Amino acid sequence: MSDPILKVRDLKRDYVISGGMFGKTKLLHAVKGVSFDVARGSTLAVVGESGCGKSTLARMLTMIDPPTSGTIEIDGETIDITSHGITREMRQAVQIVFQNPYGSLNPRQKIGAVLEEPLLLNTSMSAAERRDAALAMLEKVGLPPAHYGRYPHMFSGGQRQRVAIARAIMLRPKLLVLDEPVSALDLSVQAQILNLLRDLQDEFDLTYVFISHDLSVVRYIADEVMVMYFGEAVEHGTRDQVFSDPQHDYTKTLFAATPRADVESIKKRLAAKSAA
Ligand SMILES: Nc1ncnc2c1ncn2[C@@H]1O[C@H](COP(=O)(O)OP(=O)(O)OP(=O)(O)O)[C@@H](O)[C@H]1O
Ligand SMILES: [Mg+2]
Repeated sequence: MSDPILKVRDLKRDYVISGGMFGKTKLLHAVKGVSFDVARGSTLAVVGESGCGKSTLARMLTMIDPPTSGTIEIDGETIDITSHGITREMRQAVQIVFQNPYGSLNPRQKIGAVLEEPLLLNTSMSAAERRDAALAMLEKVGLPPAHYGRYPHMFSGGQRQRVAIARAIMLRPKLLVLDEPVSALDLSVQAQILNLLRDLQDEFDLTYVFISHDLSVVRYIADEVMVMYFGEAVEHGTRDQVFSDPQHDYTKTLFAATPRADVESIKKRLAAKSAA
């Protein structure tokens, strides 16, 4: 890959879980040695069924959870969460957006304060500069300036997700990890948020790791697709490769089980019906 911003090698995460009786413990291998690169400015979609390790991978990439072994390199710097700590710059370089923004937004904090907090903690910007930056970011994510003084409960789910995305990019991260960012939203709102993510990617030169179980979303947003199955990456290729010619049995089953949300085929069906 010409210019990878993210390099992951043989990444593993085990969890010690209680085995039930007699206090025995077992190791659960949530992620079993995953390797991949993501090119700068591109989107890698990670798909796979519930429990296959997608969120575990997301937590390792965003330095929330330490890997059991393996390496993560971001823009040439190795992330070492276990030994000499992580610099503030490294933390700023990677941000995350979760499925449910309500859970990650403080209900007592106005949106302006939500957006200014990363600036307050990490920069020496003045109050006026922070306010200007927050207002500018509101506009970038399609929210009016009047929302600056509102609380999270006054927003719709889609608007809250816009706020969560805005907060995540206030410090201009190199990598944005999105864990099922549109799964809780209505279809029409999903499309708006996906379009917004595309626009922001161009404008801020963002790289996305986009986790989703929804293949129509993946088809829309991904440059490359990685399929996970029981903690392993069983398939990885360009979107067109993976969609047109899935290799692994699991991928074939996954694709066969998912109804095609293919607009063209729906249009054709409707046309055929009205002609009949
Ligand atoms: N903190 C933890 N302690 C113990 N086991 C965990 C922990 N976090 C995750 N697991 C286990 O690791 C496996 C992978 O979980 P993970 O949350 O990464 O799956 P996922 O692919 O994100 O699933 P979903 O699509 O449902 O969000 C699961 O078996 C889960 O039970
Ligand atoms: Mg998950």
